[in-house]
Amino acid sequence: MITGALGYVGSHIAVLLSKNPNFDLFLIDNFENSSKDTLKKIKFLCKSKINFFEMDIRNSLTISDFIKSKNIKTIIHCAGLKSVKNSELHPDEYEEVNVTGSYTLLNSFINSNNKKDELNFIFSSSACVYGKPVYLPYDELHPTNPFNNYGHNKVSIENMLNKKVRQTDNLKVVSLRYFNPVGAHDSYLIGDRPSGYPENLMPIINEVAKNKSSKLEIYGNDYNTPDGTAVRDYVHILDVAQGHLSALKYLFNCKKKSYEVFNLGSGKGISVLELIDTFQRVNKLKIPYFFGKRRKGDLPEYFADTSKAKKILNWSPTKNLDQMCFSSWKFENTL
Ligand code: NAD
Ligand code: UD1
Repeated sequence: MITGALGYVGSHIAVLLSKNPNFDLFLIDNFENSSKDTLKKIKFLCKSKINFFEMDIRNSLTISDFIKSKNIKTIIHCAGLKSVKNSELHPDEYEEVNVTGSYTLLNSFINSNNKKDELNFIFSSSACVYGKPVYLPYDELHPTNPFNNYGHNKVSIENMLNKKVRQTDNLKVVSLRYFNPVGAHDSYLIGDRPSGYPENLMPIINEVAKNKSSKLEIYGNDYNTPDGTAVRDYVHILDVAQGHLSALKYLFNCKKKSYEVFNLGSGKGISVLELIDTFQRVNKLKIPYFFGKRRKGDLPEYFADTSKAKKILNWSPTKNLDQMCFSSWKFENTL
């Protein structure tokens, strides 16, 4: 079962897992940040019959009935709200959907199954749990010290999952801390298309590329980085999806209860200007931009140490920045 399966991350995982005939896939979403159109595209890409159910993770009765009736033993939990800005404006709503929602989902999962059944759970966490770097690259042992409500939600959920594993004999959990997922599926039919105006850099670049009149505002060019703009770790969405398949294999092979955390990033720091240059070069177009002030809450620089995922999950990113920029723009232009 994949929650938030019509969203950016969930849809790519769903399409990847649908290629494996051993999985019976159940996709759930409440259309908070997704559309019927995406569902149509997922169905097309999955070819096999997709089982989609409109459902809210906060509805414990419906979720419990569903888990029992479909005999769900594995959940990939991508449903949630992800706007850092809105998490500051609407902290209660974020707490309710992200933290209470995850708690409800996990409890329903445990209580709807037999104590002897092995239960597997993968959670979409984020690099923002780390906060201000004590050292770089961040490895999984780096202290967690988030500075926005969204990041606090992720830490609360991770702590809750860890605690549940300690209390439950048959539960195995992996939290995957994504860095900055970008790019699109190689059919270019699914990608990052939020319902409102985008807040993340790559979909904003797509918007600027489409509408020649507006300019991209670069948030700050006075950071202590090679070109003065902020540095992030961009990772292709198909590599992120593959990370979930690797985590599933790890959980299926794991014979005792466990809680593990893994970074999913490229391991490379890329500045905003480098990303724009690459986007312009591979897509042969110009992105007009100007330098604005630093965005409140932004860190100058961070990137991942991915050696734990390589060693234990046998996962490494395979796609480069050119492929991320190319697929992102191609998706934007494919109806
Ligand atoms: P998304 O908004 O595209 O997808 C989330 C999906 O969850 C949407 O389809 C939405 O309709 C659904 N949803 C929201 N509330 C729900 C609810 N109460 N019940 C059922 N469905 C609900 O976001 P995404 O980029 O795919 O992110 C997926 C997860 O990964 C989120 O938890 C996000 O915080 C995390 N994450 C994303 C990024 C990123 O850059 N995309 C980075 C780090 C972590
Ligand atoms: C943001 C969140 C982070 C979350 C991640 C994925 C903040 C402070 N952090 O990370 O918690 O896990 O999204 O959802 O919001 N930029 C511009 N101009 C723009 C937009 C962005 O210069 O119009 C810059 C930003 O300053 C940043 C980089 O581009 O340096 C990437 O920004 P963004 O895509 O929003 O991701 P993060 O801020 O890294």
